[in-house]
Amino acid sequence: MITLGIETSCDETAVAVFDTSRGLIGESVFSQIDMHAEYGGVVPELASRDHCLKILSVLEDSLGGINISEIDQVAYTAGPGLLGALLVGESFAHGLSAGLGIPSIPIHHLEAHLMAPALDFDDISFPFISLLVSGGHSLIIDVRGLGDYEILGESQDDAVGEAFDKVGKLLNLPYPGGPHIERIAKEGDPSKFNYPRPMLNSDDLNLSFSGLKTAVLYSIRDLDNLDEHIADIAASFQQAAIEVLVSKIKKALIKTNRDTLILAGGVAANMLLRDEMNKLEDEYGIKVRYPEMKHCTDNAAMIAYLGSLKSVDLSKQGISCARPRWPLDEV
Ligand code: KG4
Ligand code: ZN
Repeated sequence: MITLGIETSCDETAVAVFDTSRGLIGESVFSQIDMHAEYGGVVPELASRDHCLKILSVLEDSLGGINISEIDQVAYTAGPGLLGALLVGESFAHGLSAGLGIPSIPIHHLEAHLMAPALDFDDISFPFISLLVSGGHSLIIDVRGLGDYEILGESQDDAVGEAFDKVGKLLNLPYPGGPHIERIAKEGDPSKFNYPRPMLNSDDLNLSFSGLKTAVLYSIRDLDNLDEHIADIAASFQQAAIEVLVSKIKKALIKTNRDTLILAGGVAANMLLRDEMNKLEDEYGIKVRYPEMKHCTDNAAMIAYLGSLKSVDLSKQGISCARPRWPLDEV
């Protein structure tokens, strides 16, 4: 069975094709990052418009040699995400569904991230802990099986990637700040600025990053020459943010006794985060895995794959509508 996946929840226009017998046979992603960089963040209306402009050519690039008539069903991100952006993918999916006479399947974006590791590894089995850290999410989730997820902890305010981006802005770095902070931090001393580790000692697994960002703001205000300290600030901020993530993941492993940890989301590209999590392999006797970067960040392969696990009969298909807010436990 061949599933076409469509992802337009934020600033990536992505389409992919997954065949249950052959695996992933084609995928294409267009990132709008350069367009939004000018504004220092994603501008929702520009995102929707650009999805409209790009989606057809991204589809053509994704087909991997098959004819569109060979597709058996179309899966698309129905939420959570930016409403206008989601509606582009949904309308496109409904158009294909009506035109080709095939079912369309609404997919929860976060659920797709949780299942994405199966695209790159065949040694992963349920249950596992997922740390999903991106510009929009910071979640620690116990993944027990398909459709069986427990959010163990989440950010009470900014997502960790969002904090990297806001600190990047304070340091006059280009958007998104995360990769630039990591690069600059290599030259800095992580103990130079003693930033707070929010919620480090709270018993729960929740996270908070807005106080850390504000602490960076205050420390910058006191400086005469920001450029002289920029590397130390970046290194100290990065150290604080990652220390909190590592500490909460340790608590999650102890609480659940799981033996596999999966990292996902754009922040999973961060080498300090990866190195620190890798250390847990020996310390806790667990497996730590991060899917290929293209399957950690927003992509349609994960949407097509999850769609392939959720086939529906055309005659039983209901009407769905994009949901900008969609709690994971309502999947
Ligand atoms: O998953 P993603 O590509 O998009 C969504 O947010 O949905 O994640 C983007 C986020 C941005 O906040 C970016 O700054 C952060 O991931 N990021 C990083 C690194 N690379 C990307 N944060 C820290 N270190 C990195 N190397
Ligand atoms: Zn995402």
